[in-house]
Amino acid sequence: MARSSPVFVCAECGGETLKWQGQCPHCSAWNSLEQRAASSRPAANATRSTPRAIGSELAGADARLSTGQGELDRVLGGGIVRGSVTLLGGDPGIGKSTLLLQVASHVAAGQRVLYASGEESESQVGSRAQRLSVGSGALEVVTENDLDAILTAAAERKVGLLVVDSIQTVALASVTTSAGAVGQLRECTAALVRFAKSSGTAVMLIGHVTKEGTIAGPRVLEHLVDTVLYFESEATSRFRIVRATKNRFGAVNELGFFAMTEGGLKEIRNPSAIFLARAAEPAAGSVVTVTREGGRPLLIELQALVDRMRFGAPRRVAQGLDANRVAMLLAVLNRHAGVSLQEHDVFVNVVGGIQIDETAWDLPVVLALASSLKDKALANSLVAFGEIGLTGEVRPVAYGEERLKEAQKQGFKVALVAKDNAPRKALEGLQVIAVSRVDEALKAAFGAA
Ligand code: TYD
Ligand code: MG
Repeated sequence: MARSSPVFVCAECGGETLKWQGQCPHCSAWNSLEQRAASSRPAANATRSTPRAIGSELAGADARLSTGQGELDRVLGGGIVRGSVTLLGGDPGIGKSTLLLQVASHVAAGQRVLYASGEESESQVGSRAQRLSVGSGALEVVTENDLDAILTAAAERKVGLLVVDSIQTVALASVTTSAGAVGQLRECTAALVRFAKSSGTAVMLIGHVTKEGTIAGPRVLEHLVDTVLYFESEATSRFRIVRATKNRFGAVNELGFFAMTEGGLKEIRNPSAIFLARAAEPAAGSVVTVTREGGRPLLIELQALVDRMRFGAPRRVAQGLDANRVAMLLAVLNRHAGVSLQEHDVFVNVVGGIQIDETAWDLPVVLALASSLKDKALANSLVAFGEIGLTGEVRPVAYGEERLKEAQKQGFKVALVAKDNAPRKALEGLQVIAVSRVDEALKAAFGAA
């Protein structure tokens, strides 16, 4: 029996249904179903592809273009893959257009590049290019909302890279809904993917994000493309982080660090040094830890402030890390190290606006809390990392040696870690103190009693 093809698509999850309903049967979102454009159904006489053997010919197609920014190349897995489609999402004003214009200009040194803007006029893009002191002969800008016209221009010029700023502002005339609507987004992205694969052109798309922080449009947008990058930053910070949340050609959760300057985005090659811009004098409540963000070690300062509670219930506030885990550490401190903070307000903060999602910060948080309570500063040259269990044991964390090497590289002298994280071979200039229990760790850090 022939099945009729589904014609309604959910804007939230991309799920398909045969009839319109008020609620999506897949993800339960309300009023999210939209009629899909007829053109998305494959034509009966669609061209057939011929299978090819995996060999040198196909492997060679993986040639990469450098973006000119080492940090971005690394996040992409070694540069932009020819014929691939990359989606870059981020809040308005964070620097998406700036970054891709810089990339476009760098790539244009070696081949033709088309930057299609549906948001800004040619003169606006031009004046930004001037400000960034980029712009070379092979980089062309077009202000256009009609995707067919953009693809025609890109095909005529045989560009190596096509940038579309943004996917929400382009439309295909064959699709009845307006630009930015789910049907359009889906069809435009699919058309761009087809173009990239058939022509070998690398395509980079800018995507607006919703209030919830996801790229506006159906989830299928992220499924259609090869790589999804997110641009993140703290509201007032000039530092920017690019994170790969999907990558068919590299590792996910790789991070790249940038700073927004007068002259555009500049990569930060040594992020540890930036996040560690500390006062020279050691301060009570501050401890440095080595976390692992996006596949590499990163030194981060943790701060704790413990203050005698004035009234009501004690407050537990954690910025950048999980407050429930901090509450658990407070219980462990009380039970296994005799340090009670039941009558204190507790504030813990990760400096630099970074979010850490790993257990290696347990030990440094405990040290920072004790340091603030005792009003006793730890040496500026000390780093600590390790997980703490409910019975008060200090456990090793993954990539211990790599973390210690980073601390050594940044000039730290003492590392307080779990027994099993002690290196087999001594690291020059770095004394490693290995502990197995939380009370032992406090003694090692602050001396007896
Ligand atoms: P933009 O790339 O337009 O952001 P998006 O495309 O993500 O909306 O960047 C806008 C901000 O960046 C704007 O507030 C000005 C700032 N900026 C600089 O600080 N230096 C620069 O060289 C440029 C071009 C922009
Ligand atoms: Mg922009």
